[in-house]
Amino acid sequence: MAIDGDLLKKYTLTTWGFKQGEAVSLMINLGVRLGIYTALDGAGSVTASDLAAATGLHERWLREWLRAQAAAGLVVSDDGETFLLEDEAAMVLARVDTPTYAGGVFSHIRHPRVADGLEEAFRTGLGLTYDGQGEGSEHHVEAMLAPMARALLVPTVIPALSQVVDRLEAGAKVVDIGCGTGLALQLMAEAWPRSTYEGYDVSERAVAVARERFAAVDNVTVHLAGAEDVPATADADLVMTMDCLHDMPRPDLAMAAIRGAIASGGTWLVKEIKSSPEWSLNLRNPMLAMMYSTSVASCMSSAMSTPDGLGLGTLGLDPATLEEMVTEAGFTRFTMHDLNDPTNLYYEIRP
Ligand SMILES: C[S@@+](CC[C@H](N)C(=O)[O-])C[C@H]1O[C@@H](n2cnc3c(N)ncnc32)[C@H](O)[C@@H]1O
Repeated sequence: MAIDGDLLKKYTLTTWGFKQGEAVSLMINLGVRLGIYTALDGAGSVTASDLAAATGLHERWLREWLRAQAAAGLVVSDDGETFLLEDEAAMVLARVDTPTYAGGVFSHIRHPRVADGLEEAFRTGLGLTYDGQGEGSEHHVEAMLAPMARALLVPTVIPALSQVVDRLEAGAKVVDIGCGTGLALQLMAEAWPRSTYEGYDVSERAVAVARERFAAVDNVTVHLAGAEDVPATADADLVMTMDCLHDMPRPDLAMAAIRGAIASGGTWLVKEIKSSPEWSLNLRNPMLAMMYSTSVASCMSSAMSTPDGLGLGTLGLDPATLEEMVTEAGFTRFTMHDLNDPTNLYYEIRP
């Protein structure tokens, strides 16, 4: 067997690059949880000693951490002694209120038990539900999706839907299916308090967080129930499925239930990952490896968590597949909105 040395080097570097990512991820986790990025934000060039004085943390540990950050390209340092968190880096690592904030995503480290569960899934075919994906995974999901939801949902996405703002202002019935910990419900209820809101999710932990969130709120109710079981009341003015249809084992049954729940003049808002059935088009996504890996660990896993699961997975609901499925479920109007969200498309679907 003739070994190509350059190829061997390439695969070695690529493989170790992912291990490096794991090691740096732990450092980002520490930077977030210890408030180090926040302390660096706006501080200009600092030494480990300056940072120790500002944070009360141990100088030696900070110096090593800062060098790790500089090596990772997250802070700038020419001499390994002074370190600068640039404004643009702060928008990703320190400033919680910016849509580009990614620090929260690193707050969750998967428990090794989750890998045991996934190993078993490869043998049996049966995946892990969201609750099976490790303690705290519901917070991880919110941390991942919240910056963009806060930036876009109320100011951009809802106003892009025909006549929905008027209905919400007057007082509408909104049903958020796959609501997770309830962030979208909260943003909507704060923006349009005259409306009433119902959330549905199968995750006990996510529903517990959502119920706690709305404990003192009258117009939001959260049900521990699957999309397939949403009652056919035919009175929902707005149904939302945000980044969750592809996670459901039976999105087809969910769509049929939504058809029964929505009012004849109602609107169904779908947020789904940008994807294509064409591999070559998906390859343009610089985060494709993360997308497919997340699918195996989380989205497809959830979508395979029942024996009859369709297993669509993270990239499984491209626009054409979605349109075909919702048409099959009895919807007749389908509009796609591309709204300045690098990861998702939004769809306005009506009976
Ligand atoms: C990626 S999270 C999105 C949560 C939320 N919509 C958001 O945007 O933050 C997917 C959610 O779908 C939920 N889910 C999965 N299968 C479901 C089903 N059959 N019915 C309702 N929710 C489901 C999961 O429990 C999880 O909370």
